Amino acid sequence: MKIARFSRMGFILAAAGSAVGLGNIWKFPYIAGEYGGGAFVLIYLFTVLIIGFSIMIAEMLIGYLGRKDGVTCFEDLAPTHKHLWKLGGFQGLAGLFIMIFYSVVIGWIFNYIVTSIFYLPSSVKEAEITFNTMLHSGVWTQLFYHTLAFIWITYVLTKGIKGGIEKMNMILMPTLMIILLGMFAYATTLDSFSRAVEFMFSPDWSKIDSNAFVTAVGHAFFTLSLGMGAIMTYSASMAKNSNLVKNAFWIVFLDTSIAIVAGLMLFTFLYQYGSGPAKGPGLVFISLPAAFFEMGIIGNIFAILFFIALAFAGLTSSVSLVEPMVQYFIDRYSWSRLKASMSMGLFFYLIGIIALLSNIDGFKETLTWGDKNFFDWVDHFTATFMLPLGGLVMAVFVGFVIEKQRVEAILKPQLGFAFEAWYFSLRYITPVAMFIVILSLMGIL
Ligand code: PHE
Repeated sequence: MKIARFSRMGFILAAAGSAVGLGNIWKFPYIAGEYGGGAFVLIYLFTVLIIGFSIMIAEMLIGYLGRKDGVTCFEDLAPTHKHLWKLGGFQGLAGLFIMIFYSVVIGWIFNYIVTSIFYLPSSVKEAEITFNTMLHSGVWTQLFYHTLAFIWITYVLTKGIKGGIEKMNMILMPTLMIILLGMFAYATTLDSFSRAVEFMFSPDWSKIDSNAFVTAVGHAFFTLSLGMGAIMTYSASMAKNSNLVKNAFWIVFLDTSIAIVAGLMLFTFLYQYGSGPAKGPGLVFISLPAAFFEMGIIGNIFAILFFIALAFAGLTSSVSLVEPMVQYFIDRYSWSRLKASMSMGLFFYLIGIIALLSNIDGFKETLTWGDKNFFDWVDHFTATFMLPLGGLVMAVFVGFVIEKQRVEAILKPQLGFAFEAWYFSLRYITPVAMFIVILSLMGIL
């Protein structure tokens, strides 16, 4: 079988496309807002650089050396206990689980692109009503757009690494960057820009508790797409003789700068035209549309462009969330790409409908357990447990299981004198940090 590989640029854009997602533009600004800005941003940056960057290199290495689906990579690379290590590859399931709610959120964004053409809410109150009406009673609207997201994502997956994933990222990623940079440039001309900079970068340590710390670490993982095999699966199709460290650098750099650019832009708009750095997940769906309304006609244009950029970010991440399991069925069971993509697509689509219904009045009572409905449980379980666990497994696997000479042979020339520092951090600092995060996120610490 002919193996399709990414071009160099294709790989960087696809992996950055995976990393840059709803996490950067929807989640990062609101959690940064919740924890008071500056101090949280600094902790997040620190974690991204120390832990994120080293696990990114490790995850890439597994895929790059293994050249297969995640399960086979783990199995082939483990010198002993192959049956046990093989389980590491099933982290790919986390991606499918994330898709259960991710696709529903992309559906909301599609809906907002369309409605922003005609309508923007004239106050935060009105925006709240609009959003809540969609969320709690807009079952057909949500279903329609969730279906659209499913069709788009599955279609791209059926086209494969080159003709689907690479091609989509080569178009969507530059477009997204241009839109965000354009809006960012406009934001820099407004008076409130300096307030946004101050909010994002001057630390207020009083808002920082262990919770903020753990959230920052968890988010660093989520935003860099680490711990579930997305980066690993893409790396299996990386061009030969690629420089992993350089690639990892670019991905981390693009992901972080896009989160910061998006955050600065949103906070500028919210200070200038809205209610300040609003809190909570409703930030881009509630406070932001109301701020766009205040801008007049340019607000409509910005709203449409913004939601298009957000949709692009979400779609490029989605394909990377599903691809690990698609690859698994292709490599291990010789399924055709069409069959594998359709089955995985249907999996998240159908269960996604339950997630969607769990927000709807009349259904939500049955679909709520404890303090969370099904939608929130899936989000919580994947982000707080599965991804950090996956990160831990990968760090231990590269740090202790794969023979050091194999790791060295590839990474020493690329990392130079930093190799030992990286290896040390992977073996000792990262696993301990991950372990603490998992325990505290689960409420044990
Ligand atoms: N990194 C993506 C985001 O920021 C989400 C994601 C997580 C994608 C894990 C792939 C794997 O939204």
